[in-house]
Amino acid sequence: MSYIEISHATASFNVRAQKFVAFEDVSLKIEKGEFVCILGASGCGKSTLLNAIAGFVPVTEGSVVIDGVEVKRPSTRRVMIFQNYGLLPWRTVVGNVELGLEQNPKLSKKERRDVAEKYVELVGLSSFRKSYPRQLSGGMQQRTSIARALAVKPDVVFMDEPFGALDAITRMKLQDDVLKISQEEKTTIVFVTHDIGEAVYLADRIVILSSSPGRVKCVINVPEGRDFRNRASDSFASIQNKTLELFNLAPTRDPIEYYI
Ligand SMILES: Nc1ncnc2c1ncn2[C@@H]1O[C@H](COP(=O)(O)OP(=O)(O)OP(=O)(O)O)[C@@H](O)[C@H]1O
Ligand SMILES: [Mg+2]
Repeated sequence: MSYIEISHATASFNVRAQKFVAFEDVSLKIEKGEFVCILGASGCGKSTLLNAIAGFVPVTEGSVVIDGVEVKRPSTRRVMIFQNYGLLPWRTVVGNVELGLEQNPKLSKKERRDVAEKYVELVGLSSFRKSYPRQLSGGMQQRTSIARALAVKPDVVFMDEPFGALDAITRMKLQDDVLKISQEEKTTIVFVTHDIGEAVYLADRIVILSSSPGRVKCVINVPEGRDFRNRASDSFASIQNKTLELFNLAPTRDPIEYYI
């Protein structure tokens, strides 16, 4: 678990001698064990912000601090899960999950295998443990990459539209899995999506970014408790509608903090 503090962070790029601002003046605190969704339209700077928090992209102004240390580069204590799974085709499910554990010299081969098997079971893939990625559905491949990420017991998991390539039913199943695992493992999760329903279902807090450049328009505190997480419930529909309303709101000078 980690505590993340983003202060007045801006990331800009030079594109053909022109300065292009991907996101601007973002300030945000993410508590230990919190599940935060970053929601915004395509191209608004979500991935760039996530990559900046993870240390893959430098901020040009302001800072990103995790557990008191300024982020300058990626850390093995933090993992990123992408939309396209990133599995090694020549390794089995268990072999892929073992990958991150191989960087830990304290683990014997047997211990590594045991940890990998445990996480393969956690994501419900025990009967496919010896399968290769090409033999799996997209949802199973993404489950494998989630198991691989969690097996190293990371302090933070970054997810960039991880279910974007999946059909709606598989996506719902994986949302449930990630929610369950996040509650069990108490990992800090920063999750990028452009799907309002997904953000409402998963997040403790939703950060809505405006476009060009990406700025925090609004932070929505989603109530605790299970009831609204029933996708068919009235409370879920009402939170989703309210989020859509805030999503469509014209940006104000300062971000709005909203309690639903
Ligand atoms: N390395 C880079 N150099 C120049 N411009 C970049 C770079 N990385 C991102 N950008 C620009 O920053 C803007 C935001 O991109 P980003 O990928 O963060 O958006 P996004 O919100 O994740 O979009 P999507 O929902 O489509 O994934 C885009 O206009 C993109 O072209
Ligand atoms: Mg993106």
